[in-house]
Amino acid sequence: MPPKHFLQLKDFTRDELDHLFARTRWIKERFKRYEIYQPLRDRTLAMVFEKASTRTRVSFEAGMNQLGGIAINLNRGDTQLSRGEPIEDVARVISRMVDVVMIRTFEQTIIERFAAHSRVPVINGLTNEYHPCQILADIYTYIEHRGSIAGRTVAWIGDSNNVCNTWLQAAVVFGFNVHVSTPPGYAVEPERAGIYDDSHYVSFDDPMDACRGADLVTTDVWTSMGFEAENEERRRDFEHWMVDAAKMREAKPDALFMHCLPAHRGEEVAAEVIDGPQSVVWDEAENRLHAQKALLEYVVCGWVNP
Ligand code: CP
Ligand code: NVA
Repeated sequence: MPPKHFLQLKDFTRDELDHLFARTRWIKERFKRYEIYQPLRDRTLAMVFEKASTRTRVSFEAGMNQLGGIAINLNRGDTQLSRGEPIEDVARVISRMVDVVMIRTFEQTIIERFAAHSRVPVINGLTNEYHPCQILADIYTYIEHRGSIAGRTVAWIGDSNNVCNTWLQAAVVFGFNVHVSTPPGYAVEPERAGIYDDSHYVSFDDPMDACRGADLVTTDVWTSMGFEAENEERRRDFEHWMVDAAKMREAKPDALFMHCLPAHRGEEVAAEVIDGPQSVVWDEAENRLHAQKALLEYVVCGWVNP
């Protein structure tokens, strides 16, 4: 059997993703009752970080430990990658020693090359193009608060980045709509987003229009990791794309607000929104832990029935 990689959200079928959500709920409930569940005893996760992280690092390491396994953290500078060892050779070696690998890196092609030479499952912990673990947690969080996301409207305000691209893939898989508003010059690139069906998103010039009637409003940093040189230009270009109370008022009265974090209050989101009653960002961050435990269980152990 080839290893079960999770490099983009659409690598998994709707059934597999629904299964992950069912397992997330089961794993989270047991964890909250302090019940031990260790299907990954004696298993090892290698985490390769070529970019900074708080949530991804802690949730994968804590999650692997809670499942009975161990996690090894490899920052780029500590490995021979920083001295030019080919990613294919690193994949061949690491995957003979561990049971699953999580990578946070730059171009999607890097993780694809790693996966093509790996004997074990590879999980995308964020690339320039996608952030599938984030959207697993986000959709699970939506379901917890509001039930099924099918048929709902998600407003994406800001940069058409890795998180946006993954929302667009999720819209196709789950059957919801995304209202996207980006500044001129930052529009969605469907091919880069990995979507060949554009019937699930609509672009709006004005972010207020994108928020109108939304069930969920979400955004992310204006400058993603790896694009720091564009920071000043982006601050100017994105000035009118801050999610503030006026934009939230355009959404449905019971609309939720999400942000993958880290957030910059006063830039992409106003403090009154992220710290306000519609914000579920802390549940969203916590659910990274539970959703990724379900993901680790699935890629290592296969389809587990409770
Ligand atoms: N949302 C997210 O992936 O956070 P980190 O960059 O802290 O891992
Ligand atoms: N789009 C952001 C997400 C950080 C979790 C970035 O890539 O830096």
